Amino acid sequence: MPSGPTSSSTRTAENTGAARFVPEGAGWAALRSAAAKCQGCELYRDASQTVFGEGPVRSSRLMMVGEMPGDREDAEGHVFVGPAGRLLDKALADAGLDRSGLYLTNAVKHFRFTERGKRRIHQQPRRSEVVACFPWLREEIRVVKPRLVVCLGAVAAKALLGPSFKLTEHRGEVLEHDGLRIGVTVHPSAVLRAESYRKAYAAFVKDLKAYA
Ligand code: URA
Ligand code: SF4
Repeated sequence: MPSGPTSSSTRTAENTGAARFVPEGAGWAALRSAAAKCQGCELYRDASQTVFGEGPVRSSRLMMVGEMPGDREDAEGHVFVGPAGRLLDKALADAGLDRSGLYLTNAVKHFRFTERGKRRIHQQPRRSEVVACFPWLREEIRVVKPRLVVCLGAVAAKALLGPSFKLTEHRGEVLEHDGLRIGVTVHPSAVLRAESYRKAYAAFVKDLKAYA
């Protein structure tokens, strides 16, 4: 085998990120198809499928970014269709927002988990995976052109605002960053886990209302 720049390199598809899978200047449908074949980090190996963002591409003024697909999303291939999604749907409705009018996506497009018996337990994505997957989110923002991007939880917020970003210090604010207007609130799963569900839910809906 000739030892060209690729074969002599010790890097594999697993540590080069999504960029080389992204078709330049593509529209949403082509991006989604390309993402289905992404091997930009190791998460594609164990997950069932890539879960790309969804929503009206040209008319979404609001984009919401979660963390990563969960067990249900991995099985069904759609964003926010499990327990966190049901909570999000309810909160959106209570905030006067219609899910069908928003573009919903995640910072990381493949499910990361460990197996415990027959159950698959969600694991938070590593920073390297968030960075590897970022080209897809960047492209989604390019084609959707939302007026506001709302990060649901710290993983999404750090994907867009950098690893030292502190969600608790900026929750509910609108930040300007890299030519984007970005809002930040908690992840719906955090509401489900909160000590006081009622308080956490009310605060979540209040944030969503402000961003609506
Ligand atoms: N949690 C997320 O962050 N995204 C989903 O799509 C589902 C659960
Ligand atoms: Fe590609 Fe993102 Fe999946 Fe990693 S998580 S393989 S970067 S789509």
